[in-house]
Amino acid sequence: MKKVNTKNFRKTLSKFSTGITVVCVKNNNSIFGKTVNSFNSLSLNPPMVLFSLGNYSSSIKKFSKTKFLSINILSSKQKKLSDNFALTAPNLEDIKFIEGTNKTVIIPNCIANLECELMDKIKRGDHIIFICKILELQSNDKLKPLVYFNSKYF
Ligand SMILES: Cc1cc2nc3c(=O)[nH]c(=O)nc-3n(C[C@H](O)[C@H](O)[C@H](O)COP(=O)(O)O)c2cc1C
Repeated sequence: MKKVNTKNFRKTLSKFSTGITVVCVKNNNSIFGKTVNSFNSLSLNPPMVLFSLGNYSSSIKKFSKTKFLSINILSSKQKKLSDNFALTAPNLEDIKFIEGTNKTVIIPNCIANLECELMDKIKRGDHIIFICKILELQSNDKLKPLVYFNSKYF
């Protein structure tokens, strides 16, 4: 075993394969989205999930102040969306967002979408953990997931 540093921590954690989500909020008619793979299920009853965002992110305030948000789980055909929403200023022009029932915006053609209510935020280290209750959801059995492993898409 080796002593931990930022480089070997990142490298080691990259060996844990994940799906990829884009978390979206709508704030004063502007849409903000971030690519997030720190998503996980938290509770079955009530249905809850969590994800974490760096407190240095340019849009952290938009996410911290929201009541509702959507979590969009990307399909294997949505690599470009993942790259786009990892940018500070993602291009939103080509995305035909669907209005959710809870003041959320949903990305179309995902393998799954969750509409959530933000229940809790926990600051730990340089990230904030967002705990969300699921209000509505949908999934598509015909699509394959976008998988992230070793800092590459699969
Ligand atoms: C595959 C992938 C997964 C990511 N997962 C997270 C994550 O879970 N949490 C996070 O804060 N940033 C994550 N990021 C980085 C953000 O998408 C974004 O680049 C970062 O927050 C900087 O945003 P900013 O330029 O708006 O400050 C991920 C990026 C990629 C490409």
